[in-house]
Amino acid sequence: MDTEISLVVDGTPHAVVVDTRTTLLDALRERLGVTSPKKGCDHGQCGTCTVLLDGRRHLTCLSLAVAQDGAEVVTAAGLADGGLHPVQQSMLEHDGYQCGYCTPGQVCSMVGMLDEAAQGHPSHVTDDLTADVELDDAEVRERMSGNLCRCGAYPGILAAARQAARG
Ligand code: FES
Ligand code: FES
Repeated sequence: MDTEISLVVDGTPHAVVVDTRTTLLDALRERLGVTSPKKGCDHGQCGTCTVLLDGRRHLTCLSLAVAQDGAEVVTAAGLADGGLHPVQQSMLEHDGYQCGYCTPGQVCSMVGMLDEAAQGHPSHVTDDLTADVELDDAEVRERMSGNLCRCGAYPGILAAARQAARG
């Protein structure tokens, strides 16, 4: 069954007719031509399809487009607004990518991760739930563990996160 939904993607409003079985990832890539989110596993395991959905990081391969009618989506491409986003700049400076396939998901996830930590959200490895979150390497690794990199660019990604966390 087809249905029309609306999405705001990187600030641009779209109306698009999708089959109700279409994932948000396929709606973005195949229907709207938004190719910044990548399809890696298509099963919620690699994180390459991560975007910010209404400000929170979100795996687009795991949600149906119809469930996100009216949502505001920001992709890694959309984070560059008149210049690189600080997280993009950090990734560049610390060589946090090789082939770059995982990079849009890593960037969106890192932006979301920093925001979640700033809001005081704990992770699995947070010891003191009453203190401000300190983004040490263990916290960053845990919070970014949903984003896989087949090139193994993790040292650069971690260094980028350290710099971005410092602001
Ligand atoms: S493509 Fe969505 S998590 Fe891998
Ligand atoms: S840079 Fe190639 S998959 Fe991460």
